[in-house]
Amino acid sequence: MGNQDQISVEKANQRRDQLVERLLQSTAGTFDIFSIYLGDRLGFYQALSDNGWLTPHELAAHTDTYERYVQEWLEQQTVVGILEVEDAHVEAQSRRFRLLPGHAEVLVERDSLNYLAPLAQIVVGATYPLSSVLEAYRTGGGVSYGDYGVDLREGQAGMNRATFLRVLGTEWLPSIPDVHARLQDDPPARVADIGCGYGWSSIGIAQAYSKVFVDGYDLDEPSVKRANDNARKAGLSDRVKFHVRDASTPSLAGHYDLVTAFECVHDMSDPVAALRTMLHLAGETGAVLIMDERVGETFTAKGDELEGFFYGFSVLHCLPAAMAEQPSAQTGTVMRPKTLRRYAEEAGFCDVEILPIDNFFFRFYRLQALCPAA
Ligand SMILES: C[S@@+](CC[C@H](N)C(=O)[O-])C[C@H]1O[C@@H](n2cnc3c(N)ncnc32)[C@H](O)[C@@H]1O
Repeated sequence: MGNQDQISVEKANQRRDQLVERLLQSTAGTFDIFSIYLGDRLGFYQALSDNGWLTPHELAAHTDTYERYVQEWLEQQTVVGILEVEDAHVEAQSRRFRLLPGHAEVLVERDSLNYLAPLAQIVVGATYPLSSVLEAYRTGGGVSYGDYGVDLREGQAGMNRATFLRVLGTEWLPSIPDVHARLQDDPPARVADIGCGYGWSSIGIAQAYSKVFVDGYDLDEPSVKRANDNARKAGLSDRVKFHVRDASTPSLAGHYDLVTAFECVHDMSDPVAALRTMLHLAGETGAVLIMDERVGETFTAKGDELEGFFYGFSVLHCLPAAMAEQPSAQTGTVMRPKTLRRYAEEAGFCDVEILPIDNFFFRFYRLQALCPAA
């Protein structure tokens, strides 16, 4: 074997070992996600946060669950560093466990910007129709958003809720001066929120701007029902209403001062038709704002972690969901700025501006109906 061949073999062996190491870490990460899902859905974290140190028997009693399972979960969570045990040496049933200080904010406090329990729920939801996803890869078909079930919907809503309630109307919209001014002005502004899901963006806008009326539109019926419940609980039913409507059909009409689409354009089977609807709704005077994933400008062979994160959602959920309706633009989660520009142009917009709003996950686009004067 020549020197070069020897070096190639060594490099290949090194890569092999790195992949072995990585798969072991990924397996641990996957178990983290699924065990956090259990703790979240069964109310374990909430009970631990409310009560402090608990034995398996006490946690099972608080959550109406089966003690032996609870004991196993508590031990697993302690071994992986999410919980702590008061004294590991006492008999198993007598051990007392609690959340490590700092962890409750991430796992329980839904108003915190650090709340990430819904991430576990959305990942579990993304794997729910896995056999249908396998079939779609073979046939070129899709898997409808509804088929991903309640965990996907709830996880999605829970991930964005705090940001929509705390940041959208207090930082993001105020950073767009003309939009901010119009939303405060008379006559009261009208907002259309396309692909609204559980409605937290619409509610966040209405809470921040006390005069505006918001119509949220989504084609997923269970989401619209939950959105109307959420508006009612927030005491906003008179100003915030949600409707089951497909944005890519002309059935959506009216005039709005602001038309938004938060994290949904890449999910649409016909994004151009939906953008055309948004153009009509805003007319020449309304503003059109799109928030979508902050993916790279171009495909790079070794992308960063965030790009990998978005591709993960794409291969399991966003692309199959976007292909449920045919024909489909087949976008996927990784909708690059140049793709959105192309869609906007095809829909009849004159220009797309990337707004200087700084966010780790999202990029903000303002679509202009009219061309800037020469
Ligand atoms: C990823 S979720 C985003 C929900 C919400 N905007 C948020 O940020 O949490 C995408 C949403 O777009 C909706 N959607 C997809 N295509 C649509 C269409 N053509 N018209 C209306 N809603 C659509 C889905 O039903 C889903 O609720």
